[in-house]
Amino acid sequence: MSHTPLNTPLCDLLGCEYPLIQTAMGWIADARLVAATCNAGAFGFLAGAVMSPQEVDAALGELKSLTDKPFGLNLHFFQPGAEEIVDIAIRHGVRAVSYGRGPSSQMIDKLKGAGIVCIPTVGALKHAVKAVQLGADAVVVQGSEGGGHTGAVASTVLLPQVLDALEVPVVAAGGFRDGRGLAAALAFGAAGIAMGTRFLMTRESPVPDATKARYTGAETQEIIVSDKLDGLPQRMIRNRALRELENSSAAGLLLRAIRNGLAYRKYTGATLGSLLKSAWGMRRSNDLSIGQTMMAANAPMMIQEAMVRGHPDAGILPSGQVAGAIDDLPGCAELVARIVDEAHQRLAALGCNTP
Ligand SMILES: Cc1cc2nc3c(=O)[nH]c(=O)nc-3n(C[C@H](O)[C@H](O)[C@H](O)COP(=O)(O)O)c2cc1C
Repeated sequence: MSHTPLNTPLCDLLGCEYPLIQTAMGWIADARLVAATCNAGAFGFLAGAVMSPQEVDAALGELKSLTDKPFGLNLHFFQPGAEEIVDIAIRHGVRAVSYGRGPSSQMIDKLKGAGIVCIPTVGALKHAVKAVQLGADAVVVQGSEGGGHTGAVASTVLLPQVLDALEVPVVAAGGFRDGRGLAAALAFGAAGIAMGTRFLMTRESPVPDATKARYTGAETQEIIVSDKLDGLPQRMIRNRALRELENSSAAGLLLRAIRNGLAYRKYTGATLGSLLKSAWGMRRSNDLSIGQTMMAANAPMMIQEAMVRGHPDAGILPSGQVAGAIDDLPGCAELVARIVDEAHQRLAALGCNTP
């Protein structure tokens, strides 16, 4: 590997060429997108948090047929079948695992014992410190600009706070899309950047065209944070479905959650017991009320409506603010090459040695 400013400790940790992570996104970061990312020299995480153990097994098998580069897996330690998924990750030789809420020290120890890099995403300083106490090898820090569940503090404030507090490599996330952002994150002292929305908006992303068009056309101001989907602050594009949630009464929200929860149970074939256990784990790790826990049942069906079935008005559109600044859908190889070139240009302009 060459020794340039872009060859950071993150590259050594993950075995990738550039310090660029494609983060996991439910129903989006599939084997094809992750393989395209890894083949381009970055590092991708498969979205295992919305998969059954059997689906994770099959997707990892497919991924290995599409790339010989190292890759990662995302999971929630409280999802149904989490322990089995950890065993599957070990069996497939996954290089790194990402996770967020509800870390399990037992499962982290098992993963680390198998030589798997543990790299959680956190949205607050105290969570970053706790993650390292629990064994994280590196931490992705997501500022409030980021898509999906997100914290309250912007990247420019949170990132230096976390960098000051931790010894392990810190990766900046939330609002990144280009080489300027990568150069800026490295200047802060980060070991690289992680991006979700930018990779959602690529040619290899499996999101249907009608939904991708809603993202390329989105205005920055309409990408807002709401807790009406699943009880937790989540950044999404404001659309008809979100407006309906925001205008619903408490009873209406509850009814909708029950309907979506039953539909999800039918869709996954999961037992009621395993779904309740998962909901309980989510409730405990996020300190949710019973009402918020019930609302969590909304998310899978409503997100799939837009991201899988291609109905951008009827479903929910999780998104980083950065979608408002993106209007193209490049292939992953072109995207990664563009980011790397631009980062080199910015660093050279600042007088740093680049190749
Ligand atoms: C559509 C979408 C789905 C997401 N799903 C997940 C997920 O399943 N697991 C997870 O840990 N994070 C998820 N996230 C968060 C991203 O992994 C990532 O942390 C975030 O997108 C980074 O901010 P950015 O969008 O500004 O790049 C999701 C984000 C988006 C936009």
